[in-house]
Amino acid sequence: MATIRQLTVESLAHLAAQGQGRTVVDDEARGILRGWMLHPQQAAQGAPAPQKAGAGAMTVEQKLAYLRGRAADWQPARALGTLREKMVFSVGNPHARFMLVGEAPGYDEERLGEPFVGRAGQKLNQVLAAMGLKREEVYISNICKWRPDMGAGQGISNRPPTPGEIAACVKIVLAEIRAIAPRCIMCLGGTAGNGLLGLQGASVGSLRGKWHECQGIPVRVTYHPSYLLRNETLSARRAVWEDMLAAMEVLGMPISEKQRNYFLQP
Ligand code: URA
Repeated sequence: MATIRQLTVESLAHLAAQGQGRTVVDDEARGILRGWMLHPQQAAQGAPAPQKAGAGAMTVEQKLAYLRGRAADWQPARALGTLREKMVFSVGNPHARFMLVGEAPGYDEERLGEPFVGRAGQKLNQVLAAMGLKREEVYISNICKWRPDMGAGQGISNRPPTPGEIAACVKIVLAEIRAIAPRCIMCLGGTAGNGLLGLQGASVGSLRGKWHECQGIPVRVTYHPSYLLRNETLSARRAVWEDMLAAMEVLGMPISEKQRNYFLQP
């Protein structure tokens, strides 16, 4: 079967044969073309990301642009036929030290093309603000880049991605982690935690409160922001907050006495 690369070359050759010597490419396409030029071997084999260091290495921005392009036509996910059409790529600072991984875009994220922009996103922004972080300072990804399909009449309903859907998508997140090399990763919810750590069916309760590792980077798992929307108790908020405090320590962020005591029982 022809690869995207071959098809691109053929269609450019076709345009040239018709006398068209120029064509317009956006930033995303430019990133992909640059990746193909710098890493022709991987591009030919359909590998998810170029990761060469040293002279000629791509910048983090270029790597992410390349990955965004690869994700847009990521056949392992598309072939499932259970994920919706629109790919919602990650957002944030390519040089972030703190990366957060959620489960999958929902209705609002699909509509606006950005992770965590609905009610769960607002809650996440509040948690980040309590840490002294702006959304633009961190990198926000999802373990699955497509909103899981629920068939006709789905409306605003969402469902978590299945283990099979996550298995088809996780390489993209792993490549993002390689590109960004954050100092700490926070998985939001059990779906993201299981997916990133290569587990199945572990509860958030059993995963949170301790450090895990992915590519040598410390990983913490905490409750999903939507859990906090359903459960605004002090103990739920404190549990998430303790995970965030642990991340702040690893990140070497200053922590005030007031911050240490947030959401403690009176
Ligand atoms: N929930 C997630 O896990 N990710 C999003 O992007 C939005 C809601």
